[in-house]
Amino acid sequence: MRESADFLVLGSGVAGLRAAAALAAHGSVLVLTKAPEASESNTGYAQGGIAAAVGNDDSPALHAHDTEAAGDGLCDHDAVAALVTDGPAYVRELAEWGAAFDREADGRFSLGREGAHSVRRVLHSRDATGREIARVLWTRVSSLPSVRILSGARAMSLVIERGVCTGARVVHHERRLEARAPATLLATGGAGRVFRETTNPPVATGDGVALAWHAGAAVADMEFVQFHPTVMAVPHTPRFLLSEALRGDGAWLLNVDGERFMARYEPAGELASRDLVARAIVREEARTGAPVTLSMAHLDAAWVRQRFPTLADACRERGLDLATDRVPVSPAAHYVMGGVATDIDGCTTVPGLYAAGEVACTGVHGANRLASNSLLEGLVFGARAAASMQHAPRAAAVTALRPRGRMPEAREATVVPDPDAVRELMWRDVGLVRDAASLGRAVVTLDGWRRALLAAGREDVDTTGALVTVAWLMARGALDRAESRGGHARADFPERDDLHWMVHAGESAHDQDS
Ligand code: SIN
Repeated sequence: MRESADFLVLGSGVAGLRAAAALAAHGSVLVLTKAPEASESNTGYAQGGIAAAVGNDDSPALHAHDTEAAGDGLCDHDAVAALVTDGPAYVRELAEWGAAFDREADGRFSLGREGAHSVRRVLHSRDATGREIARVLWTRVSSLPSVRILSGARAMSLVIERGVCTGARVVHHERRLEARAPATLLATGGAGRVFRETTNPPVATGDGVALAWHAGAAVADMEFVQFHPTVMAVPHTPRFLLSEALRGDGAWLLNVDGERFMARYEPAGELASRDLVARAIVREEARTGAPVTLSMAHLDAAWVRQRFPTLADACRERGLDLATDRVPVSPAAHYVMGGVATDIDGCTTVPGLYAAGEVACTGVHGANRLASNSLLEGLVFGARAAASMQHAPRAAAVTALRPRGRMPEAREATVVPDPDAVRELMWRDVGLVRDAASLGRAVVTLDGWRRALLAAGREDVDTTGALVTVAWLMARGALDRAESRGGHARADFPERDDLHWMVHAGESAHDQDS
């Protein structure tokens, strides 16, 4: 069965929906999402908020400065300029479309503070900002007559004809479907589910990166994974993100003796950038041999419960009071800075194929994303990709990628793994702190699994296929980059090495063939 449209959008998070809203004026749009409910995406889980320079004491230049400092020397300056300059208008537009951002008594946006931001600049809707943004975009897009949305539709491969992407092969409720369009946007979100411990929902299995890789597109910077420092770690209960906004509003990190320990590791304390806070937690746990906790007990309890109702409920379900108890926390995989290499207009290296949001690597986050920049990224780059899709097919000249070095390989195909085996391996060997021995082991094991999938004729991007491909790309990137920077920490190369590694690095399946 075949469906045709002028524009095909894979994914229904903020990037996909913002793109669809723009594309609807220019032709028919088919939005495909594998979630049973189209509103299920990483976007809906974003708690803290959306950063934009809308405050009186702020400016795009200051926002750019903070974004680049968090990015640890590797941000693409043009991408950052687009994000911070265009961002405020897109956020105001969302408010006009009905997003209920919290406001001060005089009507100005109420702005939160988060780690590594030098001023208050995070707009929020209590502690469920992503859910509110998803609601507004979803309401708008689903009312547009030129947009058709199919949920429960999973892309298994991209259609490539004479080097140009012309659509995707899809399974929709067990029915095979070919969705054709001159321009296809990957807006499939992140890949946190490749790790055992993650803040991401089950849909975040990195499908877009795997689809693009198999279609021959370049993939960049996959070694840079952000581990969120404060995920609720109550034994025998699912992990739950405790927003950075808590620390922004004064929460403390305490060790087993009840001491605030962050200043021992970082001058900015609890408000250092996420990679630094996450690694400090791991070091403190190793030093004391006990988990660390997050505490708001020194703040006004009624205010805490009113400002963070969703988090207070989540704590209550686990038998804890957010306002008065010490809540056990530990880091978990949260966001992938790398992805499908694009220019700042969403063009990939394959004509007709575009990418925006977490699946893409514009270089806007460098080696580590500034808190609350991802919803903004989805809005700004979703809209930019939509503008270039109107002139499809275009391909980006992503020329500045350093090719990956020689990698160890498996001697033969092994067995097709269970998805949980991939997640265990990644958490153990490619997690918060890596070294050559663990990474070399991981690359070989993942290569054996990859070959096993091919030997079994499983070339489609099913869940296992996506996880293995993405994990293998991450492990290769992490083994290749012999330095520590942003979200990539090597125990055997603990320093940042600007002389050799001030570069984006990447590869495509074509490089491997040549
Ligand atoms: C958080 O609220 O801490 C997560 C939001 C983000 O990743 O920017």
